[in-house]
Amino acid sequence: MIKLGHRGYSAKYPENTMEAFVKAYDIGFDGIETDVQMSKDGELVLIHDEKINRTSNGKGFVRDYTLKELKQFNFAYKEKGLYLIPTLKELLTFIKGKEFLVNLEIKTDKIQYPDIEKKVVDMVKQLNVNQQVFYSSFCLESVIKLKQIDPKAYVGYLIENQYNSKRKLLKQYHITAFHPKYSYLNQIRVQDLKKDQIKIAVWTVPNLKEYERLKELGVDIIISNEYFK
Ligand code: G3P
Ligand code: CA
Repeated sequence: MIKLGHRGYSAKYPENTMEAFVKAYDIGFDGIETDVQMSKDGELVLIHDEKINRTSNGKGFVRDYTLKELKQFNFAYKEKGLYLIPTLKELLTFIKGKEFLVNLEIKTDKIQYPDIEKKVVDMVKQLNVNQQVFYSSFCLESVIKLKQIDPKAYVGYLIENQYNSKRKLLKQYHITAFHPKYSYLNQIRVQDLKKDQIKIAVWTVPNLKEYERLKELGVDIIISNEYFK
């Protein structure tokens, strides 16, 4: 079973910062999950929200700032210190040559960034880290696009509602990885997914009890803020 730090080792470090990614590697996570959005000048940056308000000392939409402007803000979130917004390139450069995985969530469920799927895959290929990258999205259209752009890639469909109807879409669109919210899974659902050879990744596992339950059920990937042994 693979353990991924949600937004890096975000239980202890400001989410989606290089510090959180490096510390996830140091403590022993197999990799990290992070969120990809796009700046005004088309740069791929790692941040969960469409706006910078919650996690930085600035305000406004990511897409309204250039990368240079975004780098002026402090993304320390609730911590002390200076933490700059990371680019996808910085993260991929960090993982290159290491035994460390990255789940790139393409954040297109609220804003349709033009061609973001192709730009992300091109960057991954350019740095030659394809073997270390899993893609996922809540946006079905992005999932389908990613599969078309890179048919060999791992592409997961993220869901946080309508389990049964979205489960049906996996077959229809030949999606082989499912990323439901952790609380949706029980033995029957895990068996049902396994019968169709679907990889299962769950998020965001909140405590050791749930971690043990899901491990026992046999899920493939656990995504959590905290590192569970
Ligand atoms: O990829 C799993 C999880 O990160 C999805 O939810 O809102 O934390 O991006 P969210
Ligand atoms: Ca995410």
